[in-house]
Amino acid sequence: MKNTNTFCMIALACFCKAAVVFAQTTPPAPMQPQTPLPWAYALNTPGLPPPVEDGESRHVPDSELAFTFTQPRNLYAPPDWHPEDHPEMPPIVAGGRNPGVFACAYCHLPNGQGRPENASLVGLPAEYIMQQMADYRAGLRTSSEPQMGPPANMRAVGLNATPEEAAAAAAYFASMTPRKWIRVVETATVPETVISGSMFIEKEGGDMEAIGNRIVEMPEDLERTELRDSHSGFIAYVPIGSIAKGEALAAGVDGKTRPCTFCHGADLKGLGPVPALAGRSPSYIARQLYDLQTGNRKGLWSPLMAEVVANLTPDDILNIAAFTASLEP
Ligand code: HEC
Ligand code: HEC
Repeated sequence: MKNTNTFCMIALACFCKAAVVFAQTTPPAPMQPQTPLPWAYALNTPGLPPPVEDGESRHVPDSELAFTFTQPRNLYAPPDWHPEDHPEMPPIVAGGRNPGVFACAYCHLPNGQGRPENASLVGLPAEYIMQQMADYRAGLRTSSEPQMGPPANMRAVGLNATPEEAAAAAAYFASMTPRKWIRVVETATVPETVISGSMFIEKEGGDMEAIGNRIVEMPEDLERTELRDSHSGFIAYVPIGSIAKGEALAAGVDGKTRPCTFCHGADLKGLGPVPALAGRSPSYIARQLYDLQTGNRKGLWSPLMAEVVANLTPDDILNIAAFTASLEP
């Protein structure tokens, strides 16, 4: 027995040594090719340290509440820092249904303003939200970037949520009015970034770099965003000139696409069951234009967008997203 043990130890040691050598000499597995819009489908930078819990109570402005750093990361009990902001949340929004349906408020925030890696739901028509949930349930809304976590999570939520739960959430989010949430800034340079939690954040000790053909959407205040403070919004750096180019495209002047106002309303704040575009996350809007173009989003109403997206290049999508994000919601 002792001998066998010793033998096992030696074998294990040799195996471990071999494994270490193997790990040192083998390059990391190559990522699958990304979409032409890697800034919109943010994939986490590998090897970042996980957040550290120090047990200290954190506060945010205009709230009496206190949470530690990791307490707000409960998918079935997200924080509601500002309950006076919104009507009473239906149970599916506030706490989800365990297991299977994470709380809508975890990702979309209790006031529905959302984050770049998900979507704003506040003020969208209830009929539209219910149709999207039906499309998710039918498997008609998938992401062009299967390596990105949050859209896959939404797909799971959409598959599992019942029509009754979807209706309750839709009525709730539709009942509120969107507020200005994204500050769009045209610029030639941006801070160097890494991607954490599917979101661009400033690289520690980083420099400035050229923006290139990208929109870089970042929290105004990283700590408040990490605490899921529904009063702390985002800044979207966009290339110089992109807003005007997007405005011309959206007006349909060169015939490359259809005028958006035709269906999304004169101010792009929505029309009937057609969703608003104004003031929403440019990362989200870009992902949807591309998903509609690739056919990964093929819901009941998606054919209405077919001619709109058919001839758009990745740069067109960027410019349109910069323009719509810059509008008052
Ligand atoms: C784990 C995070 C997460 C949770 C929880 C979550 N969502 Fe989402 N949701 C997302 C993401 C991410 C997207 C955007 C997907 C994309 O970019 O393709 C999204 C998109 C949506 C959309 C599409 C919005 C539009 O403008 O078309 C609806 C509707 C929606 N969610 C409803 C809900 C409802 C209702 C719940 C609760 C039952 C919920 N979500 C819970 C992450 C989440
Ligand atoms: C003929 C009507 C029509 C026109 C014109 C149109 N849209 Fe749409 N759009 C829709 C409909 C309907 C939907 C919902 C599609 C679905 O449910 O899949 C939609 C959805 C979208 C979405 C996804 C929104 C979300 O919340 O997920 C974006 C982004 C969008 N449109 C952008 C545009 C832009 C930009 C233009 C102009 C260049 C435009 N649309 C022109 C009808 C239209």
